[in-house]
Amino acid sequence: MKLFIDTANIAEIKEANDWGVICGVTTNPSLIAKEGRVFEEVVKEITDVVDGPVSAEVISPDAENMVAEALKLSQIHKNVVIKIPMTKEGLKAVSKLSEQGIKTNVTLVFSAAQALLAARAGASFASPFVGRLNDIGADGDGLIFEIAEIFKLHGIKTEIIAASIRDPKNVTAAAKMGAHIATVPFSVLSKMFVHPLTEAGIAKFMEDWNSHLAK
Ligand code: E4P
Repeated sequence: MKLFIDTANIAEIKEANDWGVICGVTTNPSLIAKEGRVFEEVVKEITDVVDGPVSAEVISPDAENMVAEALKLSQIHKNVVIKIPMTKEGLKAVSKLSEQGIKTNVTLVFSAAQALLAARAGASFASPFVGRLNDIGADGDGLIFEIAEIFKLHGIKTEIIAASIRDPKNVTAAAKMGAHIATVPFSVLSKMFVHPLTEAGIAKFMEDWNSHLAK
């Protein structure tokens, strides 16, 4: 399973990219708004940092305007993926864009039925929201498993992005359930490095090394 970072913050993207662990970025209107910057400029800057898919979301409610927005966003860089919400108008736009060879990521997926529709409309990626489902007592991990099984059974090439990730356990669960990608916030990526035995191990190695030098 590949890892993307779920943020529009350039400093976070640069740092995670330097770690060598991510190969794509997802943004959404809330993440872009948090940065308080011009949308297209942020997307361009992200594509300059990461050499992989960068999801940029349209905000129009109707297919015609979604496609118009998508065509502009896809001019920014060849790696821009158009993120489109899981609605009838959204899938109409996905289908039109896929005919033109423009990659799409269908977002706000909360059921296997929605994921199947997204795939059939021609989405390159589908993003089930694990954390938001778990928040309401539903089974986010189970949904990833169900979608992965259906896609495998029917030879569907749409890649599953486990989204709305809240902690490292969500990431490893997504990997076990068969997601192709997890898009992970910077704070969660940082937590994935941590284990008390690693820290204790380094401290002990250093202690032994220094006492050997002192002999
Ligand atoms: C997915 O691409 C979304 O940007 C994201 O994962 C939403 O997560 P949230 O539920 O933490 O807002």
